[in-house]
Amino acid sequence: MTFDLQYTCADCEARAGVLTTDHGAIETPIFMPVGTVGSVKAVHMHELEEDIRAQIILGNTYHLYLRPGLDVLRRAGGLHRFNSWERPLLTDSGGFQVFSLAENRKITEEGVTFRSHIDGSKHLFSPESVMDIQRVIGADIIMAFDECCPGDADHDYARRSMLLTGRWLERCLKRMAETEPLYGHEQQLFPIVQGCVYPDLRRRSAEMVAAVGAAGNAIGGLAVGEPTDKMYEMIELTNTILPKDRPRYLMGVGTPINILEAIARGVDMFDCIMPTRNGRNGQLFTWHGTINIRNAKWADDYSPLDPEGTSYVDSRYSKAYLHHLIHTQELLGLQIASIHNLAFYLDLVRQAREHIRQGDYRSWKTAMVRQLDNRL
Ligand code: GUN
Repeated sequence: MTFDLQYTCADCEARAGVLTTDHGAIETPIFMPVGTVGSVKAVHMHELEEDIRAQIILGNTYHLYLRPGLDVLRRAGGLHRFNSWERPLLTDSGGFQVFSLAENRKITEEGVTFRSHIDGSKHLFSPESVMDIQRVIGADIIMAFDECCPGDADHDYARRSMLLTGRWLERCLKRMAETEPLYGHEQQLFPIVQGCVYPDLRRRSAEMVAAVGAAGNAIGGLAVGEPTDKMYEMIELTNTILPKDRPRYLMGVGTPINILEAIARGVDMFDCIMPTRNGRNGQLFTWHGTINIRNAKWADDYSPLDPEGTSYVDSRYSKAYLHHLIHTQELLGLQIASIHNLAFYLDLVRQAREHIRQGDYRSWKTAMVRQLDNRL
């Protein structure tokens, strides 16, 4: 895996580059659609490739381990073959889902025991088992097993949690060194910086992560209930320590504005369920702000869904039609909204990249943030 940093801004930390994996290249900054159980909800692979122009998608270790399970994934030849996505894949480690979804979880030095949210069955995730599972899934980029502590954790809890994540990272690295990829393509482990909203903890965690010299690094534990300003402050601080010549991935963030602000602070990769989940609830993201397509004001609006949108749904369907589909809970409505929103998120990062290349990212970002903040 290589990262070729091509452009850097003179008046902010924004950068544009190309991350190359065995399944192809990714132009950064990039947004990665979330495909939790191996499918980006309501969207075909063909649409991801041709309409949304996604370059990399995500899968979740926690979900894929529970269903379809490792035997199926192994026999299928890994997730790429199972779901027929031939471009790069990244899997999250379960270090977030186990804390947000699983029941009766218990954290020890060894790992986390939990009960499945599906059938209540009992499981243990350890740094070693999570590396083994991610070997079977076979993503190009795999994430370290971490504890994502809540945004309102006190300093003592956040410190112990960050240190535990650091010890787990050492065990992840050891396991990766002892094992081989199963399907002939390279897999790279990205460590995750934690430390909640405490600058001293973030600094220490970022130093531990930077010392590993990984192919890329992630910032976790943000957008979990802390104020937005704190989130930006932590990103800024962390990126003064993480190596400049490796991609930086901000996990689980965020709104279009969050993404533009994080790019200005040196982040290269993003994922978030917002475009798909909010889309299924009728929230559409556009260059002029967000639309709640459920509102009565759209019932009689026969103009195109989004005249500035680049996917075919934007010109083919009207606002009134999508209003009707969402109200009648038609499956097609979920599909149209998801395709529109994902295409918008990919346009957003594509435009960001273009402005970084042109050298006017900072002023463009300031104007866009004002525009995106509207509710239409
Ligand atoms: N997704 C969003 N935040 C996090 C995090 O802190 N850790 C992991 N593993 N995944 C995340």
